[in-house]
Amino acid sequence: MLSARKSEHLKICLEKDVSSAATTGLERYRLIHEALPEMALADVDLSTEFLGRRLQAPLLISAMTGGAAEAREINRRLARAAQEFGLAMALGSQRAALETPALMSTYHVRDVAPDILLLANLGAVQLNEGYDAETCRRAVESVRADALVLHLNPLQEALQAEGDTNFCGLAEKIEQLCQSLAVPILVKEVGYGLSLSAAQRLYRAGVWGLDIAGAGGTSWSKVEAYRARTREEAEVAAAFTDWGIPTAEALVTLRAAWPDWPLIASGGIRNGVEVVICLALGANLVGMARPLLQAAAESYEALCSRLRIILRQVRIAMFCTGARTVADLNPTHLAKRDAYGTP
Ligand SMILES: Cc1cc2nc3c(=O)[nH]c(=O)nc-3n(C[C@H](O)[C@H](O)[C@H](O)COP(=O)(O)O)c2cc1C
Repeated sequence: MLSARKSEHLKICLEKDVSSAATTGLERYRLIHEALPEMALADVDLSTEFLGRRLQAPLLISAMTGGAAEAREINRRLARAAQEFGLAMALGSQRAALETPALMSTYHVRDVAPDILLLANLGAVQLNEGYDAETCRRAVESVRADALVLHLNPLQEALQAEGDTNFCGLAEKIEQLCQSLAVPILVKEVGYGLSLSAAQRLYRAGVWGLDIAGAGGTSWSKVEAYRARTREEAEVAAAFTDWGIPTAEALVTLRAAWPDWPLIASGGIRNGVEVVICLALGANLVGMARPLLQAAAESYEALCSRLRIILRQVRIAMFCTGARTVADLNPTHLAKRDAYGTP
């Protein structure tokens, strides 16, 4: 059943309009053009460090897939590209493989991506469904990941007829896991953002860093509305198409609260200019999911082309902002558009 759901999610995300009715909030910012950058375009250095690893660019291929036959090739294409471009990559939820070991190979990418920063992925709610530190350790080791990302997805689960909706006591279980797992733990949402109060509890729990996965990109209420078996289920989901904390709003709030806590900005990032705006707002890394899935589903070449376009946009945006390195970017490079969107 889980594997069938993974296939349905992939198919819907590739074929239907599943964009949130909310915007990321990034459109409220623009990078201040610097007509005198005093450097050459080639001087721009996109490299950065995250989780103690050097990346060639501050980009993460966000958690998407695994656990279905067609996911295997997509994961391998994403991983090959991450290796080629020196990016980080997260796998999709590994629950399917933990429950059906025959599906494990759909997550195996280390043979094509021996050097990448690779993140394992599980739903935090599974800690209330029998998963313990040993299960999490197996998830990490089975794919030779460098860290574990737990996703929080209460709305997504609530909209699924078969969803796991007992989110009681999770902060404490995450805290115990942080103490017993040998690799760092990060926590993400799946497209509705992380609030200040959630982040405060996760910080106290000892979580290494957060991935905001805010509103404005892929909307799981839209995905689940397409999967609905009855009109009633679809109508329930329909009220949530603009739900969530926009990516920019969550990023600004959390960065103001923790100047140094590692933060990944994601949720609705669609081009390299938006990547640079997120970096200027304080993100350490920027994640993208569905646009890369669409390219990867087409072909490896289409994925490489998409990444070349995004990285070229990042380079040019940094050049024309006068920022030579990722660390140079800060809020002084940004202006706010007024309420009418005019600069
Ligand atoms: C097909 C698909 C499957 C996903 N599966 C997972 C998952 O298993 N675990 C997870 O943490 N996030 C998952 N996500 C959420 C993404 O990691 C990301 O947070 C979200 O899609 C918002 O990013 P986007 O607007 O760039 O797509 C999935 C997204 C897509 C499109």
